[in-house]
Amino acid sequence: MTPFDFQLRTRIVFGAGSLNRLGELAVGLGARRALLVTDRGLIGAGHVDRAVKSLGDQGVSVTVFAETGENPTTEHVAAGVSVARQVSPELLVGLGGGSSLDCAKGINFIYTNGGEMKDYWGVGKATQPMLPMIAVPTTGGTGSELQSFALISDAQTHMKMACGDRKASCAVALLDPELTLTQPRRVTAVTGIDAISHAVETYVTRKRNPVSLHYSREAWRLLSRSYARVLEAPDDLEARAAMQLGAAFAGLAIENSMLGAAHSLANPVTASRGTIHGQAVGIALPHVVRFNGAVHNEWYVELLASSQLDGLTPPPESGAEGVAEFLGRMLRVAGLATSYRECGVGAEELPELARQAAAQWTAQFNPREVQASDLERLYEQAL
Ligand SMILES: [Fe+2]
Repeated sequence: MTPFDFQLRTRIVFGAGSLNRLGELAVGLGARRALLVTDRGLIGAGHVDRAVKSLGDQGVSVTVFAETGENPTTEHVAAGVSVARQVSPELLVGLGGGSSLDCAKGINFIYTNGGEMKDYWGVGKATQPMLPMIAVPTTGGTGSELQSFALISDAQTHMKMACGDRKASCAVALLDPELTLTQPRRVTAVTGIDAISHAVETYVTRKRNPVSLHYSREAWRLLSRSYARVLEAPDDLEARAAMQLGAAFAGLAIENSMLGAAHSLANPVTASRGTIHGQAVGIALPHVVRFNGAVHNEWYVELLASSQLDGLTPPPESGAEGVAEFLGRMLRVAGLATSYRECGVGAEELPELARQAAAQWTAQFNPREVQASDLERLYEQAL
């Protein structure tokens, strides 16, 4: 068995209506001043007002920074740091999708440790203590609330930098499924596919271990039975809750076993075409599953066996082919693109995209070794 080093660093508070506990949780962390990092869309949804009220009711003063973007960049982080320097927060609250949570973590790195984002690219580069953070996800997506990584793009090069440090882990993940009810259908679709891809990719990485497998399997079980349901019945709170919890568990799985080639293939497409992350990953994943299934079909058999009670997923014996077929079907159910050509990618770009994909950190954790030539072939299949 693969060795592991596991400590749950984040308190998980889950339940409908739990946003109202934000103030109490902030006080529990000893905070009197908070910086709330969010995006403008959530102000309209009313979530920011509720968060500010909950903090204010407990005597916590709060400043709102709502200038995050879909893929947070070094510029978004710098803008947030300059606000932080004005208000000297004792706590960061990230409210929103993975972008808001990652931006808040990025601000935390620079505000407490100085320098630039690229100084923290990799793992464990921060030397000073960081501020406690409460993550309040409003999508069932990235699982960033349970990860010590901030994904920040360089504003100039568009390179996505994964900056990880145990100190950047959130103190609390506040999971209120009611907040996910306001997601537009397209956000539900792309963040849900991303979460499913986390469950599937983490289940087969080179770093998979008994802890990560536990979370990957439960994430897959929750997500695979609920994804089509939340698209069909967006107000089904039980299904929303399953998506949110599944995404969070998949985030824990990433923290313990990393990701694979579908994420390597997706990132260069996002950088060059602006394709939203979940869409870019979702297109690649069925092809990566078939590629990996050629050497580890039994792992996909196991994964399918864990979700059989619901009868919604393919039979276990269908293995990698069954998982790939299910993933393709979910893309179609969601009305998402199933090929990179639909995202504007041309055949002539594939060698360069493959070169960039091979340089992605996650490629090394794929269970089957991937060279640039393998990645180019996968792009051809996904085109
Ligand atoms: Fe992802």
